Amino acid sequence: MKLHKVVFVFFMSCVLAFNLVSGQDFLTDKEYGRQLYLDPRGVACIKCHGVDGKGSFIAKYKTRSGKVKEIIAPDITNLDYEHFKEGIINGKGVMPRYYLTDEEINAIYTYINEGQEDVR
Ligand code: HEC
Repeated sequence: MKLHKVVFVFFMSCVLAFNLVSGQDFLTDKEYGRQLYLDPRGVACIKCHGVDGKGSFIAKYKTRSGKVKEIIAPDITNLDYEHFKEGIINGKGVMPRYYLTDEEINAIYTYINEGQEDVR
């Protein structure tokens, strides 16, 4: 092989190796959290908890006895991590039960509490 070919092959191998090694880090935690918040596996959190996680009104209905009740998705921006995690895992009421990993929950938590304006 001519020398310039050897150099070229070596160079391309370095580019490939670099891509393989660094590829996983292209998404930051916040960006990953944003994606999950907007589109987790299942119904998007944003539909109920609102763009900024401050909660929103979902629906109003009348019980059989005529009482008007409201379904409201609570503000999830000021929870401690354990509380936040339990809320997602337990899925009370109309809140769907999600099967997210710790890493995914952590990324959403970071996005909701720290990162929103950086990644919009
Ligand atoms: C269909 C609407 C809906 C969707 C979608 C939804 N939630 Fe909820 N969420 C609720 C409601 C309603 C509650 C309140 C449940 C209760 O206490 O009765 C709740 C509760 C919570 C809580 C507990 C809040 C507290 O103060 O205890 C957390 C945390 C939470 N949701 C996070 C999320 C995240 C993160 C997602 C997306 C992965 C999500 N939710 C998707 C409606 C929803």
